[in-house]
Amino acid sequence: MSHKILEGKKGIIFGALDELSIAWKTAEVIKQAGGEFILTNAPVALRMGKIDELGKNTNSKIFAADATNLDDLNKLVEFTLNHFDSKLDFILHSIGMSINVRKGKHYTDLNYDWMAKGSDVSAVSFHKLMQTLYKKDAMNKWGSIIALSYIAAQRIFPNYNDMADNKALLESIARSFGYFFGKSKQVRVNTISQSPTITTAGKGVEGFNEFLSFSEKLSPLGNASSEDCANYIVAMFSDYTKKVTLQNLYNDGGYSSVGVSQEILDLVKDRIE
Ligand code: NAI
Repeated sequence: MSHKILEGKKGIIFGALDELSIAWKTAEVIKQAGGEFILTNAPVALRMGKIDELGKNTNSKIFAADATNLDDLNKLVEFTLNHFDSKLDFILHSIGMSINVRKGKHYTDLNYDWMAKGSDVSAVSFHKLMQTLYKKDAMNKWGSIIALSYIAAQRIFPNYNDMADNKALLESIARSFGYFFGKSKQVRVNTISQSPTITTAGKGVEGFNEFLSFSEKLSPLGNASSEDCANYIVAMFSDYTKKVTLQNLYNDGGYSSVGVSQEILDLVKDRIE
């Protein structure tokens, strides 16, 4: 897919850590589609990850910013506006983290300091980012802002823990802020609810491989890969989706609409026979 549908468009990509990251794949595909961007991640992730490599490959500048820190966000947006000498057309928020998940703390025994930190990083940071862009009037008319979510915001996935609550808040913030961004600046805001995908964040969830295999068997089209997600994001950043806003969009091979599949029934049948 080498159509230059993002030619001339400029933006910011949050959350590329290594080549498994959804944001990494997205940066590569946006570049192929003709878009230009600043790459950003938390200072600690810049030290530990491989983002320099992605910066070189996509000819992009890298700017450190903790997405929970308003001062960092202000500096990042200022830097980007100066760098491109123009307003921005697209923003990808591809950030998630739960200390409770990381440390194996059960949902019925949460550490609330960790919960607050995870919520700030995974959900409130999206509000902070949009508020920074909004106040600086940093987005071009018909710009597009996307955050990545997961279906645990709507349905129970016990091991997803407090990340389910973070995703529910993230999706709500997208709608609430998207209303104001649409009304006064003609900018669209959506979340994309992605299939389970093998990445650093994904692998942190207990039983992730079983998860992956279950959803592969339930989805008529199979799980959506990082590349599928990247292609969808490009479509959402393009001018072909100008009137799509305030939506939680499933990129999941049909998983979210299926009750049970024949493959899962066959597995259960084998078990009970
Ligand atoms: P990843 O681990 O590659 O990306 C998460 C990113 O968040 C990392 O780059 C990390 O450095 C960044 N981050 C953490 N704290 C930050 C902070 N304070 N400031 C700035 N950046 C910070 O994993 P992945 O899977 O690519 O995650 C991207 C998004 O996709 C997340 O929102 C995740 O919840 C979502 N998602 C992932 C799925 C999966 O199965 N991997 C499924 C559905 C959604």
